[in-house]
This record gives sequence, structure tokens and C-alpha cells, in this order.
Amino acid sequence: MQKKAILLCVNIDHIATVRQARGGIEPDPVHGAVLCEQHGADGITVHLREDRRHIQDRDVRLLKEVVRGKFNLEMALSGEIIQIALETAPHQVTIVPEKRQELTTEGGLDVKANAGAISKAVRQFHERNILVSLFIEPNLEAIDISKQTGADFIEFHTGTYCHAFGSPSEKKELARLYEAAEKAVAIGLRVNAGHGLNAENVIPILNMKGLEELNIGHSIVSRAIFKGLPAVVREMKDVIRHFTPDRAV
Ligand code: PXP
Repeated sequence: MQKKAILLCVNIDHIATVRQARGGIEPDPVHGAVLCEQHGADGITVHLREDRRHIQDRDVRLLKEVVRGKFNLEMALSGEIIQIALETAPHQVTIVPEKRQELTTEGGLDVKANAGAISKAVRQFHERNILVSLFIEPNLEAIDISKQTGADFIEFHTGTYCHAFGSPSEKKELARLYEAAEKAVAIGLRVNAGHGLNAENVIPILNMKGLEELNIGHSIVSRAIFKGLPAVVREMKDVIRHFTPDRAV
């Protein structure tokens, strides 16, 4: 049986989180995006939050120029951010719920309560040829409503499954995702998934019906720190070891 390629869009928000910790210019997420794509990422995902805690407007503008694969902008349904997204015209927007106090996106969109606003935003994005994905729980009613809004994709929130991974409820959470994916494909929605995924828990997710794209950030940026530390410590030791007093003045 021929395998369909599943795309990896790397979420680089936490490169920006480190930059914002000092308020300086490094590490630059735009540089990170180039490296990710040079090493096989199929696209780049960022979340321009209303509080600008990590990704900044300047990053979004530059990423639009630099990203060669898919550029996926995560965003809340806020007038200001919708305007920026329409002006930037990424390949895809993923509409997510957003609360100021949260550490990361908690749970999927309430598509029932926001159906009117979502449908209006979908029409605006489609007028600019921007694909729309809705970040939702693997819930059958939410899938039906998502389809009615005219969205192209749904992205299943995999966070609950990831928390359950290795516990007795893992099977149940995985079954919910599988059933939801079957339903989405059956009614003509395209399927993405993300949140909390790492190199271990992603494996059963790869069996999800119709899965086209994964959005993975935290585990990739976390692993990159440990993979990169040995070389960077060696580099600093070399600088110190090769210091000669007359070079310093
Ligand atoms: N997908 C969506 C909609 C998200 O909000 C996030 C987190 O920003 C991710 C995927 C990536 O999640 P993680 O950083 O846990 O891999």
C-alpha cells in the first residue's frame, strides 16, 4: 500500500520565548525557521498571540518572505490579529482559542458558540486565498459544525491523548482521535493534528485516517537544546582556552 506523506510544520514559538526572556535579538526565530526547513521541515507554524509574549509582528512579516514551504499562522479570533493575518496572507491560518492567563493553548475552539464569527472569518480568509484550519477537540459535533463554517481543515487537539500516553486511558483517547478523523474525512474535512506530541507519542497518531500535517513545537525546541549543548559548550571552552592576553587589549 502506498504511504501518503504526512507533513511536519515546526512550531518555532519557543525560540521566540527565549529571545523575549532578554528582550534582545537572539535567538532569532526567523533564523530558526530557515534551519528547520533546510533540515526537512515541510513548513513553519507560529502563534501571534494578542499579548505578543513570544512571536512579534516583525517575525510574522519576515517569515512570510523567508518560509519556502507552508507558512501556518495560529491566531485567536480577534479583530486586530485577523487584520494582520489578512495583510500578511500566510498559506494557512489556524484559529485557536486564546486566554491571556494560559501557559499554552488549552483545549480546542468552542466552534458552537463562535460559529457565526468563525464563518465570517473563513469567508474573509478565502477571499484572500488563505486556507483555514480550526483547532478542535476530537468531538463529533465540533467536526460537523467546523464543516458548516466552510473551514478547509480541522486540527485535532492531541493534548489530552499526550497526557494519557502510557496510562490506562491512552487507548480510549487514541480511539477518540481515530473515530474523529474517520468522521472528518467522511464529510470532506482535511485533517491536521498537534499539541504535546513528541517522537514517542506521535507514532500511533501517524495511523490517523487522512492525517495531512502535524504541528509540533515544544518537544522539538526542547530536544534541540540538549542536542546543541555539547557543541556550544565545546565552542565556549575553545574561546577561553585559546585566549592570549595581548589579543584581549
Ligand atoms: N497546534 C496548535 C494549534 C497549538 O496551539 C500548538 C501550541 O502552540 C501546537 C500545535 C504545538 O504544540 P506543542 O508546542 O506542544 O508541540
